[in-house]
Amino acid sequence: MRSQALARRLDIQHPIIQAPMAGGASTVDLVVAVCEAGGLGSLGCAYSSADAIRQAGNAVRSRTARPFAVNLFAPLPAPDPPRDATPAIEALADAHADLGLTPPVLSGDPGLAFDDQLDAALETGASVFSFTFGSLPADTIGRIRESGLVVIGTATTADEAVALEGVGVDAVVAQGSEAGAHRGTFATSFEAAMIGTMALVPQVVDAVSVPVVASGGIMDGRGLAAALMLGAQAAQLGTAFLTTDEAGIPASYKRAILDAHEDQTRITRAFSGRPARGIVNQLMTDIEARADAILPFPLQNALTRPARNAAAEHDRAEFLSLWAGQGVRLARRQSARELVHRIAAEANAALARALSGEQTEE
Ligand SMILES: Cc1cc2nc3c(=O)[nH]c(=O)nc-3n(C[C@H](O)[C@H](O)[C@H](O)COP(=O)(O)O)c2cc1C
Repeated sequence: MRSQALARRLDIQHPIIQAPMAGGASTVDLVVAVCEAGGLGSLGCAYSSADAIRQAGNAVRSRTARPFAVNLFAPLPAPDPPRDATPAIEALADAHADLGLTPPVLSGDPGLAFDDQLDAALETGASVFSFTFGSLPADTIGRIRESGLVVIGTATTADEAVALEGVGVDAVVAQGSEAGAHRGTFATSFEAAMIGTMALVPQVVDAVSVPVVASGGIMDGRGLAAALMLGAQAAQLGTAFLTTDEAGIPASYKRAILDAHEDQTRITRAFSGRPARGIVNQLMTDIEARADAILPFPLQNALTRPARNAAAEHDRAEFLSLWAGQGVRLARRQSARELVHRIAAEANAALARALSGEQTEE
């Protein structure tokens, strides 16, 4: 695989970015392992306090000299307070009882201040700042770039990519509808922006002049090779890294991914109030069964958090948000280092096969 301009700029050996995964999956161990294997590890810091971001960044920095990324959610306007949260609370009652928790209460969101998170992120020694859920003001992007970080935004349509280029990002993640977890959509409706990676990436590549990173449903070297063929300069993988030894998710969540088929994930607002893709489970269907039971993001996220935390503690997959993309059947159990090396080798082989016209055996 010839090194792409973005990989050279990021100073990584393989055009493989481990997706930032806020909520615990992208541990320091995972980020360090990916970086040391020649990919770009990313800390998902959206749900972390400024102190926790500094701590995680320092921990990564103390264990690898390789470049890594920090990632935040772009700030969203505060949602309107719910007129009646009773249905949302009731929809969680059975899960709370089953998990031995006191009945659910509407706690509100702790409301981490983006500016504090960003200040901390800039002090981590990360080389890359990536973000999702929106755009950022051009002067904020300018400040991050002046601090020496490469800035990468997330788009789910070509128009969003153009908007991000307009505020000065260095690269764009094109997030296809196959992707695990939250949609990054910010400039159109979530329904309209459900564009598959295969269709999205070349349209984004044509629309912007900055490098494009393909994301969504890419699980192995064939997916990386396809992304490069479509004009992307790298791929960002989330689900593939969730089943690595270093990923910080409960064993039952890893098992659920390894057992899942491509038709067993769907987009839901049940867990957080914002559309996100996960493996269908009991809590998702219980909440979805009541059409009026979902609060806007991030209130629903805060409301379901105690149940999800308890489920993680007791390793109960039926009450977790099992974020995963449509490539689940391709998930493999291995170390992050093995995964990065394997994807790079597989992509080289796939590209060589495609160029030589050689067919795989029937
Ligand atoms: C568990 C999980 C958490 C995620 N959290 C974030 C996040 O905090 N920030 C972000 O930019 N993307 C996040 N993503 C989305 C990824 O960046 C990426 O778009 C997605 O994983 C690609 O699809 P795939 O899972 O099929 O590889 C998350 C994905 C997963 C699976």
